[in-house]
Amino acid sequence: MARSSGNLFASPSHLPLVAPSILSADFANMGADCRAVVEGGADLLHLDVMDGHFVPNLTMGPDLCRSLRRAMPDAFLDVHLMVTEPGRFVEPFHKAGADHLTFHVEVAAGREGRELAGRIRSLGMSAGIAVNPDTPPDGVLDLLDAVDLVLVMSVRPGFSGQAFIGSVLEKTRVVNSRRSPKQRLEMDGGIGLSNAAQVRDAGCDVLVAASAIFGVAAADWSTVISKLRGVNGSTC
Ligand code: DX5
Ligand code: ZN
Repeated sequence: MARSSGNLFASPSHLPLVAPSILSADFANMGADCRAVVEGGADLLHLDVMDGHFVPNLTMGPDLCRSLRRAMPDAFLDVHLMVTEPGRFVEPFHKAGADHLTFHVEVAAGREGRELAGRIRSLGMSAGIAVNPDTPPDGVLDLLDAVDLVLVMSVRPGFSGQAFIGSVLEKTRVVNSRRSPKQRLEMDGGIGLSNAAQVRDAGCDVLVAASAIFGVAAADWSTVISKLRGVNGSTC
C-alpha cells in the first residue's frame, strides 16, 4: 500500500477500504502488528485516540502516531479523535504524520465544526466527522460540504470488542444518500464477518475493525481482511 502523493480517502485506488483499528493490536509489539496487518492487505491504519473524558478510556497520542510514521512511511494513518477538545490535537497529530483526522459532531458542530474541518484541511490532512449511535444525523448532514469523510459509530465509543448496534444502519443510509461520491463513508465498532455485508450494503466504503482482525491469529488476518472487503470490491 503505497502512500500516494494524494490522500487515500480523496483518491482511493479501490473500494471498500479495510481499516484495522490498532486499539486491539499488541501494544508491546505495535510496529510488528501494524506491518503484518498492512502486508496482510489492510488499506490503512485506524488510530483510536481517547482522552478518558469524552469516552471512559485512555489510549494513545501523537507520540505513537510519530513512531508509526517513522516505522511505516507509506502507511495511511487515519486518526479518530474521541476527545472533548479535538482542536488541541490538530497540529500535534499533523506534526506526528497523521494523514486524516476525524472529530466528533457531539463536541464540534455547526460553525465550530466547520472551522475545525477547515483547519485540518489547511494543513493538508483530510477531515472527517463522526456521529455516535444515539446522535441523529442532522449535525453531520449540516457539515457534509466541509468534510472528506463521515464516520458512523456502530458502538458507543470507548472500547473494542463491543456488540454491533444495527439501528445505525438506517442513519447510515440517510448519510449515504446525501454524500458526494468523492466523500468516504466509514463505519466503526462491532464490525466482523457476520455483518460486514450489511455495513457495505448500507453504503459504507471504509470498514474499521479491531477485534475481528487482531482477535484472531495473525496467519488469518489476510483472510479476514479480504472477507471484510467483500469479493465484489471495485477498482476506482
Ligand atoms: C471504539 C473505537 C473503535 C473500536 C473498534 O471507540 O472507535 O474503532 O476500536 O473495535 P471493534 O472492531 O473490536 O468493535
Ligand atoms: Zn475508531
